[in-house]
Amino acid sequence: MQQKDKDYIIRLFPAIKKISDRRIRDKVVRTWYNAWKRSNFPRIEDLHQFELARDCIEYSNRDHTNQVCRAAEKMGAMLADSSGLEVRMDYLLAGAVLHDVDKIVIFDAKTGGLTDTGRRFAHAVMGAAMALMEGLPEEVAHIIGAHSTKFSPVPPASIEAIILRHADQVVAQAVYLAKGLDMDLVLRQSLARIT
Ligand SMILES: [Fe+2]
Ligand SMILES: [Fe+2]
Repeated sequence: MQQKDKDYIIRLFPAIKKISDRRIRDKVVRTWYNAWKRSNFPRIEDLHQFELARDCIEYSNRDHTNQVCRAAEKMGAMLADSSGLEVRMDYLLAGAVLHDVDKIVIFDAKTGGLTDTGRRFAHAVMGAAMALMEGLPEEVAHIIGAHSTKFSPVPPASIEAIILRHADQVVAQAVYLAKGLDMDLVLRQSLARIT
């Protein structure tokens, strides 16, 4: 990975700069980079929040991820502040930046459908595996693996994972609703088309 690639990824996801542990920060960048290189997306920002619904709503995965990062950070800070809970902010931010990283390998840029990888592995589970492959802590992989109400095989088992799962839901549902869409219905209908 060249410096320009690193700069590009940090520019796309500015929350990376807020991760204070340099090793975690570097692994987060590397996870995004390797996912991108494994995909057929020319640019990371071309990835839709949900490729199967790309004709029905304009919503990039980059925007979605940044919104989730901001929401999670605020929820984490509020909880730490108001109830004295220990929120591991580096883990939370790493999980937020990476929670949908696997979409770039699960979906095909050309068809908007699933890739072979997407047929073999479920969303969220694949992302958790990718984070582990880069050497990120299990706590971060768990946040990713447990974030999805639809695809995660396990419920959130940490404060950071609970925050992320709900931040993701609030952000995505609000954006769909603002565009006059019912997110769950859109997801169900688009999944029905491919199964
Ligand atoms: Fe997701
Ligand atoms: Fe998401």
